[in-house]
Amino acid sequence: MTDDQRDTPVRRGLVGVVADTTSISDVDPCHNVLLYRGYPAPALAERHGFLDVAHLLWTGELPDPAELAALERRERSLRRLDPACEAMLLSLPTDCHPMDVLRTAVSWIGAHDPATTDHSAEASAEKAVQLLAVLPTIVALDQRRRRGQRPIAPREDLGHAENVFHMTFGEIPEPEVVRAFEVAMILYAEHSFSASTFAARTVTSTRSDLYSAVVAALGALKGELHGGANEAVMNQFDEIGDPDLVDEWLEARFAAGKKVMGFGHRVYKRGDSRVPALHSRMRQVADLRGGRALMAHYEVLAGAMLREKGLRPNLDYAAGPLFHLMGFDTPMFTALFAMSRISGWTAHVIEQASHDVLIRPVARYDGKARREVSAVR
Ligand code: COA
Repeated sequence: MTDDQRDTPVRRGLVGVVADTTSISDVDPCHNVLLYRGYPAPALAERHGFLDVAHLLWTGELPDPAELAALERRERSLRRLDPACEAMLLSLPTDCHPMDVLRTAVSWIGAHDPATTDHSAEASAEKAVQLLAVLPTIVALDQRRRRGQRPIAPREDLGHAENVFHMTFGEIPEPEVVRAFEVAMILYAEHSFSASTFAARTVTSTRSDLYSAVVAALGALKGELHGGANEAVMNQFDEIGDPDLVDEWLEARFAAGKKVMGFGHRVYKRGDSRVPALHSRMRQVADLRGGRALMAHYEVLAGAMLREKGLRPNLDYAAGPLFHLMGFDTPMFTALFAMSRISGWTAHVIEQASHDVLIRPVARYDGKARREVSAVR
């Protein structure tokens, strides 16, 4: 560290640090807005499909009908998992975390792709579609093997969200449920320099490959302060058990100095702009799936957190119950998030490669003062 840097305040957690520019998304906490390439994410979620949004994130523009048809064809053709990869995944312990399975699968795919070291934007764009297409197959296989069920092959005649339900449950639910899943995928797709995206960009900044960047991002997403929060939310409802016990549970939680998962955000301080759009879909699915009691619990905890801490729900608070009502097992929730965020991560990998600058901050040393090494051991 230079003498000048010794006087620079330390920004632990990089709080408020503007690390680079990006043209992919903008989070504006003052106006509670999230823009993907200029478009408000909730409006995209209402009017567009997940593949439209992936195309937007990757290329900067929404696809025209021909571009969308070509992307859909490509995505549908790439859903099948290599049988050798499938066998390897089936050999993993069923008590490891699903994010470990996803991370291992992406490593396997990277090790077997002859184009892994091709860092051109074209090659990265192709890998991005491949990963977006195959991640659902891996996640569905993983949920089924944990339930002692055999994998179900993808169907090319189904849309992205329908195919996720087909491969996971062997059936396609009501259109409202499929649409709610797609809305969740769109709202989860991109969020500027989140911890996982920054991890992916840091790996890319060393001129490493896209698969390594995605593996790093998956590792970062797993933690409960980031993507793991959607699972933690559902575990909290199970732990509390009864909405009447929320106040008591919260008191004990605060006394133990623990946070409540699904609340607060590093950037948004007045509420998460994505929540209302997912909240309304969640209520719709709750009505269809007998989720009234869970919704009551949801409201009681949200009300108590606002009253006690002034904190509002983030996207994971709505996504956890939504995925639960759809039938997914709680440990799978973060992997569902990854299935969506792969679009944003890969867009950032491509953008970071074009910036081509090594990300390498400095640290203020606060260890022992200089001392001499003695000559004799
Ligand atoms: N539950 C209880 N208190 C919380 C809280 C939560 N979920 N989130 C923040 N706070 C409190 C902190 O305890 C702290 O209080 P203090 O100033 O009295 O010590 C204050 O709010 C600021 O929190 P801090 O952790 O410094 O803010 P941050 O910007 O670093 O945290 C998160 C952002 C997301 C890490 C944090 O809100 C959190 O841990 N949330 C729960 C995990 C979660 O839902 N993650 C998904 C994010 S999309």
